[in-house]
Amino acid sequence: ALVSMRQLLDHAAENGYGLPAFNVNNLEQVMAIMQAADECDSPVIMQGSAGARKYAGEAFLRHLIDAAIEAYPHIPVVMHQDHGASPAVCINAIRSGFSSVMMDGSLLEDAKTPSSFEYNVEVTRKVVEMSHAVGVSVEGELGCLGSLETGMGEKEDGQGAEGVLTMDQLLTDPNEAAEFVKATGVDALAIAIGTSHGAYKFTRPPTGDVLAISRVKEIHARIPNTHLVMHGSSSVPQEWLKIINDFGGEMGETYGVPVEEIVEGIKHGVRKVNIDTDLRMASTGAVRKYLAENKKNFDPRKFLAAATVAMKEICKARYTAFGSAGQA
Ligand code: G3H
Ligand code: 13P
Ligand code: NA
Ligand code: ZN
Repeated sequence: ALVSMRQLLDHAAENGYGLPAFNVNNLEQVMAIMQAADECDSPVIMQGSAGARKYAGEAFLRHLIDAAIEAYPHIPVVMHQDHGASPAVCINAIRSGFSSVMMDGSLLEDAKTPSSFEYNVEVTRKVVEMSHAVGVSVEGELGCLGSLETGMGEKEDGQGAEGVLTMDQLLTDPNEAAEFVKATGVDALAIAIGTSHGAYKFTRPPTGDVLAISRVKEIHARIPNTHLVMHGSSSVPQEWLKIINDFGGEMGETYGVPVEEIVEGIKHGVRKVNIDTDLRMASTGAVRKYLAENKKNFDPRKFLAAATVAMKEICKARYTAFGSAGQA
């Protein structure tokens, strides 16, 4: 059944677990996420980005998620719009049937220029007013994703804040977070703690100076009733990195957010954990491997099924580690 994000995150808070929020663009991702949820008995958050809408179109995304709800009626599903760049984008998603939207006012409408606190409050509050009137939940973001190793905004995949960022922007301030939540009424707050989108997050396994889980604790202590969201939270599995490169890929050395650090965040108010890159890497690795080992194959269902299995294993591992398994 389609449920609101608020319902699901409240349940997660009451029961002390976190939910992975997986990005979806196509049938195989939706199937992998749902098969894993069914096997683990976990609730589901699926989210569509602007890139997903560009790739598949609003109608296909919506019907894929509707199909998931029909095929697995016993699993609670949130259909969330990821990184809305303006109130207009959020209204369109609501009209399209999404049960949750993200108004990412940490950046201007170009989705790359860091905004002022006042701008962020204004657009986010507007979206909260409209969304709550129709029972839709809202995620806001305070702070900009970027690297504490380099001080730069993310640019790797051409998304997110551009250029050099200040420490204030790279690490969400607990007092500002309290003011932001009070002024906007958001249901969930995405925070900046040194993670970034895409595969190239850290040049070495991250330590506390570049991945500030301590900041999660400080924010949670200040706003204990706000559901926190971690973006850029793929773990960048080294085994899939190796498979990709062993079978013709050329990805560079890179490290993600360790699952155990996310679990630490979940102990301190993190309820939604955004993951896209891990499923991309698993599917790319599985397809490369399948095609290299089955050179006579020309039936796409074969290599797409291999990708689905690979993604499903990651989903199961996250449902289990984050504690959402058994909570559907
Ligand atoms: O926001 C980040 C997600 O990984 C979505 O990426 O814009 O390439 O679909 P995308
Ligand atoms: P990753 O690129 O780390 O998977 O992050 C995804 C994300 O934050 C989507 O909003
Ligand atoms: Na989001
Ligand atoms: Zn994100």
